[in-house]
Amino acid sequence: MEFYLDTADVAEVKRLAAVLPIKGVTTNPSIVARGKRDMVSVLQELASLLPADSTLFAQVIAREPQAMVEEALKLRAVIPDLVVKVPVTHNGLTAIKQLTQLNIPTLGTAVYGAGQGFFAALAGASYIAPYVNRVDSQGGDGIGLVTELQKLVGLHCPASKVLAASFRTPRQVLDCMLAGCQAITVDPQVAEMFLLDPAVDDALKRFDHDWSAAFGTLVL
Ligand code: E4P
Repeated sequence: MEFYLDTADVAEVKRLAAVLPIKGVTTNPSIVARGKRDMVSVLQELASLLPADSTLFAQVIAREPQAMVEEALKLRAVIPDLVVKVPVTHNGLTAIKQLTQLNIPTLGTAVYGAGQGFFAALAGASYIAPYVNRVDSQGGDGIGLVTELQKLVGLHCPASKVLAASFRTPRQVLDCMLAGCQAITVDPQVAEMFLLDPAVDDALKRFDHDWSAAFGTLVL
C-alpha cells in the first residue's frame, strides 16, 4: 500500500514527511499553480527533501499527444524517476501508449468512470487515479467507482495500480483502502484529520495527570 501527499507545498511535505509513512508526493497543475512557482523548481525541491526511494508525480500541461510526450521527457530529464500524470482523454490515451513504449511510467488522471480508467490501464498506465470526492460532489458514487475499477484492474491489468485521489474526509480514504486500492493520495488537510480526534488529547491528559499525581514528574 502506497500513501502519498497530494500537494506542492514544500513546507507541508517537509513537516508531514517526518510524521507520516508517505511513499512520495503527487501534484497536479492546480496544486502547483497555487504556489505560483515554476513546476520544475518545485519538483526539484520536493525530490531533494524526500528519501531517494520516494516517488514523485507531475502532470503534463499540453493537450496534444506529441506535446504531452515532449513535456514528459522534459520533466523526466530533471526528475528521472518521475511518474507522468496524463488525463485520460483521447489524446491522453494516445500519449500514455507512446510513453509506455518509451518505458516511461504514467498515471492516468481525471478519471470519473471505471471504463475510462480501465482504458488507461490497458494502454499501459502504471497508476490510475479515480476522483472520489469530485464524483461524490456530482451526486455520483466515488467509492463505487473505485471498487469497480479496482476489480477490473485486478482481473485484467494486475501490473497497474489504482491510486485513489480527491478526498474530503478520512472515511472516503478508508473506504478506498477497504476496496483494495494499492495507492492513495490525500492533501495535507485530510491527512491531518486522521490524527485530530479530541478524544486522543483527553486520553493523553489523563495519562499525564495519573503519572504526575503518583510520581510528581512527567518523565520516566
Ligand atoms: C489527482 O490526480 C488529483 O490531482 C487530485 O487528487 C484531485 O483532488 P481534488 O479533487 O481535491 O482537487
